[in-house]
Amino acid sequence: SHRIMLGPLVAAIDQGTSSTRFLVFNSKTAELLSHHQVEIKQSFPKEGWVEEDPKEILQSVYECMERTCEKLTQLNIDISNIKAIGVTNQRETTLVWDKETGEPLYNAIVWLDLRTQSTVERLINKTPGRNKNHLKHKTGLPISTYFSAVKLRWLMDNVDEVREAVVCHRAMFGTVDSWLIWCLTGGKKGGVHCTDVTNASRTMLFNIHTMDWDPELCKYFGIPMEILPRVRSSSEIYGLMKSGALSGIPISGCLGDQSAALVGQMCFQDGQAKNTYGTGCFLLRNTGPKPVMSDHGLLTTVAYKLGRDKPACYALEGSVAIAGAVVRWLQDNLGIIGSSEELEKLAASVGTSYGCYFVPAFSGLYAPYWEPSARGIICGLTQFTNKSHLAFAALEAVCFQTREILDAMNQDSGIPLTQLQVDGGMTSNRLLMQLQADILCIPVVKPSMPETTALGAAMAAGAAEGVSVWSLSPEDLSEVTSEKFEPQINPEESEFRYARWKKAVQKSMNWET
Ligand code: G3P
Repeated sequence: SHRIMLGPLVAAIDQGTSSTRFLVFNSKTAELLSHHQVEIKQSFPKEGWVEEDPKEILQSVYECMERTCEKLTQLNIDISNIKAIGVTNQRETTLVWDKETGEPLYNAIVWLDLRTQSTVERLINKTPGRNKNHLKHKTGLPISTYFSAVKLRWLMDNVDEVREAVVCHRAMFGTVDSWLIWCLTGGKKGGVHCTDVTNASRTMLFNIHTMDWDPELCKYFGIPMEILPRVRSSSEIYGLMKSGALSGIPISGCLGDQSAALVGQMCFQDGQAKNTYGTGCFLLRNTGPKPVMSDHGLLTTVAYKLGRDKPACYALEGSVAIAGAVVRWLQDNLGIIGSSEELEKLAASVGTSYGCYFVPAFSGLYAPYWEPSARGIICGLTQFTNKSHLAFAALEAVCFQTREILDAMNQDSGIPLTQLQVDGGMTSNRLLMQLQADILCIPVVKPSMPETTALGAAMAAGAAEGVSVWSLSPEDLSEVTSEKFEPQINPEESEFRYARWKKAVQKSMNWET
């Protein structure tokens, strides 16, 4: 049959907290040609624990690849046009596997997991002046349950299989990118054990100045360096796909999902920023080739390094643990909605929270507070309050949390953002986008192609040295269309609600005392 000629295509694996996707783009226009998505099960074996099955994650990647290839074939698009594959992933989530059997030695401990709370509190108490920022000068991060090092330490202390594998030199540690790349490039038969600088910068074992694993940090957490993956740039050939329909294609891009979204949103200039609404919500602002340390509770992280010989760029990051996760909670735990689409309708039916505030501090509070002992609260209830108000309060919570990190960002940089570029699943919720503009008092701008995370990883893959693809450059993509939401309520109203929210946050941190 007749095949459509499109020129080279670039693809991305987007392995997020809630789902896995495989997406194929036209490398000249960034047009999304086909994709497939599979949900990932999360298990909560104990209060505060969050795990995922590494094999299910891998299987979901293969399934998405196969189904996408089938869809392309149905569209008469030749899959041999795919020239490069990028990997982008939920960050910090921690895995250990046996390099000889290829078997995971425990479930993946998801970034949101709180099991290390007491370890973290103990570590902070041991530092001079009980300073959670004790390691920040090297890592850019506060000591927190969020990052990989404490999760890895927990695995070594609590899982016999992990301890034994470490002793026998058979253990490999990795974040999701490393696990996937190792498996896809051959696994126990010669798989490549690597990560990129962006993912490495979220482990707390990586020195963001020397751009390498830090022996002192590894000693501090008691982590043997031989189990760590090799750190590479975000755009170079790591290895070739070893099986399936895409066998032989280079994997040549790797970025943590928030970095990939920054790239996909073309935030290459110092000062440019984006906010991604996924399971959590992450605002990153490019600070150029020098790391900038925050005085307002933000993280300093590696934004990207697009080639072995290219300079690294850094970002300030405001991380919010719970955004889309609150929607899933309303659905799975309370059952007041059947789908995320229903949430918008329910909230829109009242258009106000009627004085109800919902702080979804399910995993403690992240930026700018870094308070692992905070817990969720709903306050301001009356006899009049119903599930629609609660739905509205949940959406508002996402917006208020973003306002807090935007304020911190503006204070740190001294140059306020005049509009906010957004992306991610929740941005399809138009009520949320309008509320966000209202609460920030600046316009919110959303690209018409929402898959910016995958696009960023595909761009990095296509731009790698040795891959003959036209890279997607900002010039080529100047035509990208977007939609703008302007603030519609008056700033006093907005400030009033925000002040109430802040009171609720204080209560979420002190409710036990
Ligand atoms: O740091 C965690 C982040 O990378 C997860 O992103 O999109 O799965 O919420 P997401």
